[in-house]
Amino acid sequence: MNNTAERWGWLSKSFHWIIALMIAVIVPVGFVMSATYQFKVTNEQMETVHVWLSRIHQSAGLIVLMLVIARLGWRLSNPGPNVPASLAAYQRLLAKINHAVLYALLFALPLSGWAAMSAFGEAPTYFLWLDGLPNLVPKVPLNDAFGYGFYARIHHYGIYTGGVLLSLHIVAALWHQFVVKDSVLRRMWPLAS
Ligand code: HEM
Ligand code: HEM
Repeated sequence: MNNTAERWGWLSKSFHWIIALMIAVIVPVGFVMSATYQFKVTNEQMETVHVWLSRIHQSAGLIVLMLVIARLGWRLSNPGPNVPASLAAYQRLLAKINHAVLYALLFALPLSGWAAMSAFGEAPTYFLWLDGLPNLVPKVPLNDAFGYGFYARIHHYGIYTGGVLLSLHIVAALWHQFVVKDSVLRRMWPLAS
């Protein structure tokens, strides 16, 4: 279960890959959910679709928030494997910064989504079968400086920042595997020992 100097333990690997799979569902669902919003008012069937997509998007996003709290707690109490000695100091620094910002986004995205729904206040924040989590921020008029649009913009910019950083992250993992040919991807790979 524990991480060692050479590899990630199964708990760290599970956190990494379960969260990655959930993001792979949450992001496309988020885009389709946003697209269905404009039809919602006039079309009853589209409203049902929108509510279901919102329920899936928000519930999964809030589960990611819980998982990342547990993941970070585990990570801070259980150091990861050593960085390969072949990496230059600037590469270690870039990897560290990228990982830190990815962690920050795993908090910022669900929190800004929840805050947007709370500030809007006209529709429930869904969590699984619960229709209406407590508000994270007070309900305010739409045109307030800290209204729906403020948090939705944070959500929006977070998604695009995340897209760029995740692409770099994946390119770096593939570069380790196929160019440098070290153990970085293998030691995070789900079924590798
Ligand atoms: C890791 C978690 C999450 C990710 C990766 C994510 C991603 C996305 C994406 C890709 C979109 C569509 C693009 C856009 O309209 O900006 C979106 C929209 C949205 N998400 Fe999330 N989301 C997450 C969590 C949440 C949570 C927990 C909530 C609410 C409880 C939420 C509420 C919303 C709302 C209200 C929108 C529409 C924003 C708008 O008006 O454009 N999201 N999200
Ligand atoms: C939404 C998707 C993903 C997120 C949010 C994410 C995030 C992270 C974070 C924050 C770390 C640092 C772990 C720590 O130090 O505690 C990490 C490590 C890692 N990730 Fe990802 N990742 C994602 C997808 C991927 C994918 C698709 C790959 C492979 C192609 C990958 C390969 C790796 C590897 C190899 C490591 C270990 C790096 C090392 O040993 O220093 N990740 N990931």
